[in-house]
Amino acid sequence: MKNKRTFLAIDLGASGGKAVAGIFDGNNLSIEEVNRFPNIPAEINNHLHWDVLRIHNDILDSIKKTVDKFGNSFTSVGIDTWGVDFGLLDSEGYLLGNPFHYRDSYTNGIIEKTTQQVSKEKIFELTGAHFEPFNTVFQIMAMKEHRISYLDSAKYLLMMPNLFTYFLTGEITCEFTIATTTQLFDPVKRTWSKELINILQIPDILPEIHQPGTTIGKTLKTISNYIDKELNVVLPASHDTGSAVAAVPIFENENSMFISSGTWCISGVEVEEAVMDKKLLKYNFTNEGCLGGNYRLLKNVSGLWFVQKCLEVWKEEDPTLDYSKLTQMATEAEPLKNFIDPNDLRFLNPPDMPNEIIAYCKETNQPVPETKGEILRCALQGIALRMKWVVEKLEELTNKKIEAIRIVGGGVRNELFCKLIADATNRNVYAGPVEATSLGNILAQMIAAGEIKNVFEGREIIRKSFEIREYTPSVDERWSILYEKFLKVMADI
Ligand SMILES: Nc1ncnc2c1ncn2[C@@H]1O[C@H](COP(=O)(O)OP(=O)(O)OP(=O)(O)O)[C@@H](O)[C@H]1O
Ligand SMILES: [Mg+2]
Repeated sequence: MKNKRTFLAIDLGASGGKAVAGIFDGNNLSIEEVNRFPNIPAEINNHLHWDVLRIHNDILDSIKKTVDKFGNSFTSVGIDTWGVDFGLLDSEGYLLGNPFHYRDSYTNGIIEKTTQQVSKEKIFELTGAHFEPFNTVFQIMAMKEHRISYLDSAKYLLMMPNLFTYFLTGEITCEFTIATTTQLFDPVKRTWSKELINILQIPDILPEIHQPGTTIGKTLKTISNYIDKELNVVLPASHDTGSAVAAVPIFENENSMFISSGTWCISGVEVEEAVMDKKLLKYNFTNEGCLGGNYRLLKNVSGLWFVQKCLEVWKEEDPTLDYSKLTQMATEAEPLKNFIDPNDLRFLNPPDMPNEIIAYCKETNQPVPETKGEILRCALQGIALRMKWVVEKLEELTNKKIEAIRIVGGGVRNELFCKLIADATNRNVYAGPVEATSLGNILAQMIAAGEIKNVFEGREIIRKSFEIREYTPSVDERWSILYEKFLKVMADI
């Protein structure tokens, strides 16, 4: 029997930070949650920022707990977060200012301003990326616009997961998958887009790009002293979706759509080369990098954010409510009466989500949901209809039929959500694993340690180690009627 090896994934999501240990015995992979900590943005002067130092301490604490529990078998750590956000370092390596959180309003109106300088078509041609106001390129342009002076003193821009890696190792890097979320990366040349950087006069602060699945360094001496171990630090797909998709148990020649379901439902397919068709611009799809060098052709759809925001409001009157109870209520509510469009910008950060859903139904002349269950069902049906639309667009863009849908992430726990997607898209849904992001992060570390050769080997291990649940679609004519109406009122994003 082979010695067990332990790999620690630190995953910083919107609903919190998680430290998950992956234990590999040479055959099977199991996971154990070592730590959980909040990842709440800090508000200063009406701006939202990352709570950087607190998270750094929580990361150290998580590593220390793993050393205490797993001792010598503890092989390496890797960090992933959502995309686009970054910190700036000066020439001495000091962090400048407080990194902005992507939901901050400082980027309001910046796409419009920037595209007066250079057209959307040109930016797309150079980056193959979708347009979101929070993309790194627009955050930098917003810093210029608001004259945030420390931008001028910056020597390096470090994407958030790579900033936390820098705090552990002192190594300055930008990992490939997170680089592809900046909208400054040329996916055809597979390097920074010098042309766009020149046009927009972005300072020369982007570090060299490294591939995921590589060891970037060892913990700094002070950190090794604190954790009682000199530890290897690995670059996973440091974009959380990149890690999640690495752990979707897709067979090598299977043509299925993945949904990485958390706060967002990020849906797409893996392709070998970036798709640069101008239709992507029209539908606002993007190309993001994968562990192993492929691209993910995908669409961002707002996801379980709706459930999170409704729970936040309702918990004020009933603190005993939780996700399971809400799912139960939505399951019992009358089906197929109404929907929202999850990507309508009004839902980005409304003060009262349940009321916003009700208002949307009124304004689109639909039956108004009244109970908590009805409100949630309405939101989930909207997400399912958007998924049907994404399936159609992916088939059009790739010229291939999507045979099935694979869901990973927190949404796997919501059976109604999985079933609605099967029904709306009329496709079989395979749901699991829930902890795909941490698992994908762990697979990259297993590649770096020489335990597996590539992502396909990793997916095979996931298939035999974790439960995958199948949902088959039920036919109901009312879906077509709702979808027709959805197409008429859906937002153009
Ligand atoms: N017991 C449960 N029943 C139903 N749904 C659940 C349950 N537990 C969690 N969820 C859903 O999972 C979601 C969180 O998923 P996940 O942990 O993957 O998100 P995240 O990683 O924080 O978000 P992101 O990566 O998108 O920033 C919650 O919003 C909730 O809707
Ligand atoms: Mg996540």
